Amino acid sequence: MKKIAVLVSGGGTNLQALIDAQNDGRIKSGKISLVISSNPSAYALKRAGMAGIPSVVIEKGKLSRDEYTKKLTQCLTGHEIDLVVLAGFMHILGPEIIKEYQNKIINVHPSLIPSFCGEGYYGIHVHEATLEYGVKVTGATVHFVNEIPDGGPIILQKAVEILDTDTPEPLQLRVMKEAEHIILPKAVELFCADKLEVRGRIVKIRKD
Ligand code: GAR
Repeated sequence: MKKIAVLVSGGGTNLQALIDAQNDGRIKSGKISLVISSNPSAYALKRAGMAGIPSVVIEKGKLSRDEYTKKLTQCLTGHEIDLVVLAGFMHILGPEIIKEYQNKIINVHPSLIPSFCGEGYYGIHVHEATLEYGVKVTGATVHFVNEIPDGGPIILQKAVEILDTDTPEPLQLRVMKEAEHIILPKAVELFCADKLEVRGRIVKIRKD
């Protein structure tokens, strides 16, 4: 059974999707053992509490990216975590954690990478950019984290159609419900069941 840590910064609907998947058996090869929040007032902390999952707050404050990364890495290794899930975590991590947890950190991003991703593309801003550009299809991506923001090998993607009437908020909700909350638990179970094989940029999913 793999030990999973979920890193959050806000509402935590993706954390909730993971908790629900664990409760109904869609995640069975791993256990959410720790939630780390960068924000002391994140609603995600309440969700962790209601599910009986231990949580800690590690604030970025005035720490540099490398100092912050060091603190997170120490916490994760101290808890013997096998898989780190960034679920609405709004900070870019430094190289130390990526080395320590190579191909063991996954992130959910609210667009079809390589569109609308990288530094500056997070949360609602992704959906604003999507609508401004005028694309007809968007979606979500779950990928391994490497040194390039949103640039690591892609595990799963799911498309969501854009409606003529869309504004950023309803689109964000639909992308979460129809894509993120489905592919994130799936990717977590695939990882925990050792079904993912990374060959360069390509992630192979073993069917056995
Ligand atoms: C989600 O849409 C997630 O994909 C996005 O922020 C939202 C957090 O929602 N993450 C990023 O943009 C990171 N680059 P949640 O807190 O309800 O899971």
